[in-house]
Amino acid sequence: MSDRYKALWATEQDGKFEIAIRELGPTELPEGEVTVDIRYSSVNYKDGLAVAGNKNKIMRKLPMAPGIDFAGVVSASGAQRFKPGDEVVLTGWGVGETHSGGFAQRSRLKGDWLVRKPDGLSLKQSMAIGTAGLTAMLSVLALEERGLRPGDGEILVTGAAGGVGSVAVALLARLGYRVAASTGRPAQADYLKSLGAGAIVPRAELAEKPRPLGRERWAGGIDTVGSTVLANLLSMTRYGGTVAACGLAGGFDLPVTVMPFILRGVVLYGIDSVMCPEPRRSEAWRRLARDLPLDKLDAMTHVHGLAEVPELADAILKGEVRGRAVIDVNA
Ligand SMILES: NC(=O)c1ccc[n+]([C@@H]2O[C@H](COP(=O)([O-])OP(=O)(O)OC[C@H]3O[C@@H](n4cnc5c(N)ncnc54)[C@H](OP(=O)(O)O)[C@@H]3O)[C@@H](O)[C@H]2O)c1
Repeated sequence: MSDRYKALWATEQDGKFEIAIRELGPTELPEGEVTVDIRYSSVNYKDGLAVAGNKNKIMRKLPMAPGIDFAGVVSASGAQRFKPGDEVVLTGWGVGETHSGGFAQRSRLKGDWLVRKPDGLSLKQSMAIGTAGLTAMLSVLALEERGLRPGDGEILVTGAAGGVGSVAVALLARLGYRVAASTGRPAQADYLKSLGAGAIVPRAELAEKPRPLGRERWAGGIDTVGSTVLANLLSMTRYGGTVAACGLAGGFDLPVTVMPFILRGVVLYGIDSVMCPEPRRSEAWRRLARDLPLDKLDAMTHVHGLAEVPELADAILKGEVRGRAVIDVNA
């Protein structure tokens, strides 16, 4: 293979941010011991922020390629764990933030950041899962760790038609939980039901100023939205319930009182996928390969080329992307 490769390349000159597909060579490859020929990446909310003008300064070392996850094949390795031909998956560790990322046909990085592609998943399916799906699984593991079991009551997933939300709904339903899906897009109700949601909760129901304690409604929750939506979920979580908080699509504030915590023993469990250590990370991938129904994963996935990333970035920030957008970097 040629040592030239294409990337969506972000630059900043005189304070002006630009992003365009460029052909690059070995000198632009980031530092690292393992070189990966990337096949697929995906568009996550954080990628939306990065590509659409580097909002929140997601990329901290320009020039670089954005893209916080990818799946591909090792082409050279100085790490003992990997050899050329190995299929690998990368999520987090600052890739697409401080280290050039996945919207490229090639990358180089630390071997410790890579996981082997789980058996039973294709490279494309592992990116259909990607950072969003890993985060959904980490959230489910958190609920399980707190003792939540199917039969304990309904679990609310917020931002349900998005990437993390769609995977969370499909996973929980497959595991036997009763799932309520909160969405601001009523037109996605049938889609969410097809993933396994038993009930649809309009986002507006969670948009009012939260009461310190609301009616005890949900046994637990997975929240991708933050702000008022998370505050309402907490105030309506049943005695002893757990809410896994992983997102901020609706805002990073949290207008809540201590009442759910001190009167109902509700637990707010924070989820981070970026620095999530082994063996938790591998356990999450193992469970995804075992528990996520692949027909549901395929139904929530749409595949695009590298040139479509900027358009998808705008759309994901507007909450208009359904499920998971996979990028075929060679298309
Ligand atoms: N903690 C971690 O490690 C981690 C990892 C991955 C993602 N995240 C975070 O998780 C969140 C979801 O990521 P994603 O990739 O799944 O994004 P996504 O596909 O855009 O999903 C977010 C969903 O939130 C809802 N939403 C959007 N804007 C909203 C608003 N203003 N108010 C209320 N709801 C809104 C929409 O769902 P409906 O249309 O169904 O309402 C949207 O589809 C993001 O905040 C992301 O940064 C965190």
